[in-house]
Amino acid sequence: MKLHPLTLSLLVISLGAVISMAQEKGSTLFEEKCAACHVKQRPAYEEMKNLIAPPIMGVMTHVKNAKTTKTEAVSFINDYIFDPTQAKALCMKQSIERFGLMPSQKGSLTKEESTAIAEYLYDNYGYGK
Ligand code: HEC
Repeated sequence: MKLHPLTLSLLVISLGAVISMAQEKGSTLFEEKCAACHVKQRPAYEEMKNLIAPPIMGVMTHVKNAKTTKTEAVSFINDYIFDPTQAKALCMKQSIERFGLMPSQKGSLTKEESTAIAEYLYDNYGYGK
């Protein structure tokens, strides 16, 4: 099949729109379901004492250090959201000592929503971001 260049560029544009819609969805869902506990901006020194969970860029750096592929990272996050345990935790021991274990988010979001959040987090956070 030979595609007209215009058709091709329209396809590329629509694909871009679909991808950015998925990003948008993950970002909105994170605000709704996770941001009450996990801040997205690196906290200023004086804000540190007010934190109730580790900031998400730190969480994602630990996840990326431990999981080599996006698929593995996303499936870890999907599992942890619904069934967090100390044995599975990748974050520093001090995090759990300070904040306690993350409460299960079962009932707060669907598996599909959790996947959208996990993919968004993988694409946007970790290693200094
Ligand atoms: C009620 C507060 C709260 C909410 C809501 C919350 N978390 Fe957490 N989360 C925590 C705390 C506290 C920790 C640190 C302790 C731990 O690791 O279990 C944590 C840790 C994590 C970790 C790291 C797990 C590890 O130790 O390896 C991930 C990943 C995570 N949260 C993702 C999410 C996502 C995604 C959402 C939204 C769907 C979310 N959390 C909602 C409190 C929360």
